Amino acid sequence: MSPARPRSETRYVCQTCAAEQLRWEGQCRACGAWNSLVETVVDRAPARRAPSAAGGAPAVPVALGDVRDPEHARRPVGIAEMDRVLGGGLVPGSVVLVGGEPGIGKSTLVLQAAAGVVAAGGDVLYASGEESPAQVRLRASRLGLLATAAAARVRLLAESEVGRIVEATRDLAPALLVVDSIQTATTDELDGPAGSVGQVRQSALRLTELAKESGTAVILVGHVTKDGTLAGPKTLEHLVDAVLTLEGERYAALRVLRTVKNRFGSTDEVGVFEMREDGLAEVADPARAFLAEHEVDAPGSVVVPTMEGTRPLLVEVQALVAPAGYGSPRRTTAGLDPNRLALLVAVLARRAGVALGSHDVYANVAGGLHVDEPATDLALAAALASSLRDRPIDRGTVAVGEVGLLGELRPVAGIERRLREAGRLGFRRAVVPRGGRGRAGEVPGLDIVAVGSVREALEALLAQAPSDGGPRPPRS
Ligand code: TYD
Ligand code: MG
Repeated sequence: MSPARPRSETRYVCQTCAAEQLRWEGQCRACGAWNSLVETVVDRAPARRAPSAAGGAPAVPVALGDVRDPEHARRPVGIAEMDRVLGGGLVPGSVVLVGGEPGIGKSTLVLQAAAGVVAAGGDVLYASGEESPAQVRLRASRLGLLATAAAARVRLLAESEVGRIVEATRDLAPALLVVDSIQTATTDELDGPAGSVGQVRQSALRLTELAKESGTAVILVGHVTKDGTLAGPKTLEHLVDAVLTLEGERYAALRVLRTVKNRFGSTDEVGVFEMREDGLAEVADPARAFLAEHEVDAPGSVVVPTMEGTRPLLVEVQALVAPAGYGSPRRTTAGLDPNRLALLVAVLARRAGVALGSHDVYANVAGGLHVDEPATDLALAAALASSLRDRPIDRGTVAVGEVGLLGELRPVAGIERRLREAGRLGFRRAVVPRGGRGRAGEVPGLDIVAVGSVREALEALLAQAPSDGGPRPPRS
C-alpha cells in the first residue's frame, strides 16, 4: 500500500443488509432499515488482487510451531495494574481501545502509560485531536513527567487527520502510537463529520492496518455515551484487539480499569486506581477499596465479597426503599443490573414475604463500581429487606449467593477465595448458599452460616440484633 493514497470512492452502505447506495437517505431501499446508511470507502483493489499479481507476494503458509510467539515481545507500560489488565503489557502491532466517560481520566492514564513505555526504552507518538500540545504538556507537568525521559521521547502531534498521523508514525517508527480520541479522528477519504460512524470506523481501520504493518502498538482513546456503550459503531470493538474501559464516579476518587475484550489475555482482570492530584495511583489494597466508611450500622447496607477476575473485591451494596407516591413505583439502580433488581423485588414478595410492590426502590454499589455478578443477588435482596424493615445488618457480616426464581440460593464460583478475603479484612460472619458450604471449608475467624433459601438467609441476617455495633472489620 502506498503512503499517498488516491482519493477513494465512497458509497453509503447499509449496516443492516450491506446494500450500497450512492447517496445518503434516511431509509435503506433494500431492507427498509432506518438510519442505517453509513458513508464508507469502497476499496475494490484488494478484492481483485491475485496472490501472484505484481507487488503482492504469494501467501506462504507457516507451520503452527513456527509462528512467532508474541508473548516475549510484550511491552510493559510500567503501570502494574494496567499491565495486568492487558495480560502482561502491550503486544507490538496490536490495537487497544481505552473507553470511558468524559473526564474520567483516560488521557491521564494513556499519558502515564506513554511515559512508562518511554521508561522501558521506547518512543511514543501522541496524536491529540482533543487538546492542544500546551494542554497535554500541562497534564504532563502535573504528572511530574517533564523531568523524565518522557519530556524528550513522547512526541506530540496536534493532528486528527488519520493519513497524516499514519505518515508521522511511519517517519518516527515509535513503539506506541496514542490517538486521543478516535471520535476526533477523520480521514480525508470521507466527507462526513468527525465522530460520525463512517469516519470513526474508517479511521480505526486505517490505524489497525498501520499497527499490523509497522508493529507499532496503538492505543485509541474512545468516549462512551451515557448508556455505557462506546460511541461509534459496534464494529470498532471488532476491529481492535483489546477493549479496556475506565469507570468510576467522576467526583469520587476510585477508578476501575476493566477488560471488555482481549485477544491476548483474560477478560476478567480489573485494575483499581485512585485519581490523585498527581495522576492515577495504584491502590494498595483493592479488596477493601470499595467498602464505604461509616461509623454506625445503617439499614439497607450489606457487604458482598465479589470476584473480579481472579481477584476478590469486597463491595457494599446499598438500598433505600420508601413508600411510593402516585403512579408506578420507581426502580433506580447505579452500578447494578436493573433487571436483576426487578427480579429480586418479585422473588422477595413471593418467596420471602418482603412486599415492595408499593415502594420506590433505589439500589447502588458504593464507590461507583459496576457489579454484574449474580453472586451479588443475596446482598441486594438483604439490603432491600433491611431497608424496608429499617433493621441494620451487622457490619461484620458478608452475604453472597445467587437467588433463583423459586427463592432458592445457588452456590457461586470461587466461594473459598471470597470468604478468605472477607476473613482477612476482619469480617466475622458470612451467610452463604448451602451448596457451596463443602467447598468453602473453614476460614479462620469467620463463622460461616450456610442456608438454602433467601428466606432463611434473611432470617440469619436480620434476626441478629446488631448490639454494640457487633463484630466489625478493622478499618486500618
Ligand atoms: P482526563 O484524563 O482529562 O479525563 P478524560 O481524558 O477521560 O476526559 O482527566 C479528567 C479529570 O481528572 C480532570 O477533571 C482533572 C482530574 N485530574 C486529577 O485529579 N489529577 C491529575 O493528575 C490529572 C491529570 C487530572
Ligand atoms: Mg481526554
